[in-house]
Amino acid sequence: MKLLILPDAAAAAARVVDEIRDLVDEKPDARLGLATGGTMEPVYQGLVASDADLSRVTTFNLDEYVGLSPQHPQSYRSFMEARLFGPKRMSRKQTHLPQGDAPDPEAEADRYEAQIADGGLDLQLLGIGANGHIGFNEPTSSLGSRTRVKTLTRRTRDDNARFFDDPDEVPRFAITMGIATILDARHVVLLATGSAKAEAVAAMVEGPLSAVCPASALQLHRRATIVVDEAAASSLALRDYYETVHPGGAEPEL
Ligand code: F6R
Repeated sequence: MKLLILPDAAAAAARVVDEIRDLVDEKPDARLGLATGGTMEPVYQGLVASDADLSRVTTFNLDEYVGLSPQHPQSYRSFMEARLFGPKRMSRKQTHLPQGDAPDPEAEADRYEAQIADGGLDLQLLGIGANGHIGFNEPTSSLGSRTRVKTLTRRTRDDNARFFDDPDEVPRFAITMGIATILDARHVVLLATGSAKAEAVAAMVEGPLSAVCPASALQLHRRATIVVDEAAASSLALRDYYETVHPGGAEPEL
C-alpha cells in the first residue's frame, strides 16, 4: 500500500484529482470506477473545475440503492449527474451504475459485473465507511465477492440518513461491486478524511486481513494508493514511517 498523508481534506481531495487527471492525460479512454458519498464531493468539484478531459472515459460506479429509480433524487445516479456527469457533459452511454429499480436485482448485479469484467477498470476510486466497508461490502462480506445485492447495516443506514428527508427512507439493500471485483481494478485509490474515519483507516492499513474490515482486503492489492488527511491518519501506529516514506504525500527520492 502507498499511504499518503496530506495536511487537510482539501489537499487530500486535490491529490486524488491529480491521480485521475494523470491517468486520463495518459489514457484518454480510461475506464474509471467511481464512488459517491460526502468524501467524494470535493474530488468531483476539483475535477469539474479542472480542464481534465473526460469526454472519452467510461465510468462504472461502485453501487446503487435497490428500489430507487435512476431519477430518484437520492439515487447514486442523481448524485453523480449533479456533481460530475452533468457539469462535465458526460453521456448516459459512457456512465454506468447498477439500475436500482431493475425488476430482478440479482440478475442486474450479474449483468453489471460482466460489463465491468469486459475491459476491467484502470482506476477504482473508493471511500471507506466508519465500519470499514468499501462499496457497500459491509463487515463479514466475502473477500472473494462479486457484484451482488447486500443488506446495509444499521450503522451505514444511519450514516447515510443525512442525505434523506426521513431516515426511514434509507433503502435496506444495495447492489454493490464485490471485494474481488474491486481488487481486479488495475489501480485502487482510496480517500478518507476526518477523524470519524481514523479507526477504520488504521484497521484497513495495520489491522489483520479480515472480512470484519472489508477495506483490509486492499492489503492484497499490488497497487493501492491510500490518501488521507491528518485527522483520518490519527490512529495509525506507524504514521511516522509513512510520513518518512512520502513526506507531505510526495514521492520518495531514491
Ligand atoms: C459510496 C460507497 C461508500 C462510501 C462510504 C463513505 O459509493 O460505496 O463505500 O464511500 O460509505 O461515505 P462518506 O464519504 O459519505 O463518508
